[in-house]
Amino acid sequence: MEWRDAFQTGIESIDRTHRQLFGKINDLISAFAGQDFPSARVILAYLVSHHEESEDEEARLMRQYDYPFIDSHLREHRRFKKKFLELKEEADAGKADQAYISFRAQLLLFDWFTGHIARIDRHAGRHIANARQLPMRAA
Ligand SMILES: [Fe+2]
Repeated sequence: MEWRDAFQTGIESIDRTHRQLFGKINDLISAFAGQDFPSARVILAYLVSHHEESEDEEARLMRQYDYPFIDSHLREHRRFKKKFLELKEEADAGKADQAYISFRAQLLLFDWFTGHIARIDRHAGRHIANARQLPMRAA
């Protein structure tokens, strides 16, 4: 997958984390492509824990700037997190077909970046950037 401008939220701290994650995603795709399943499992575990960190930062900013759709946004985060965890657990258990896990991991990552980051995170980013320009809301 290639990084696109559409993935930029305009909020530095969020974009920095997303770019780091993006690098890991390509590592994961390479690991699966090379059938290096031990590495793929390590990267999946990293994605689950790193996902949590980036969510904390988003949630903190959305609360700070009273983002009105925070509940539905965080619900989406939980949905993604659950799916990542399921994949990680299936990969760790070693019972499922690795090619099938690889396929689902790629679909999920694609959905996350194009469906969540490029749309929902950008929406929150615009709200935060606008709120930061209001003198009363300056933090
Ligand atoms: Fe988000």
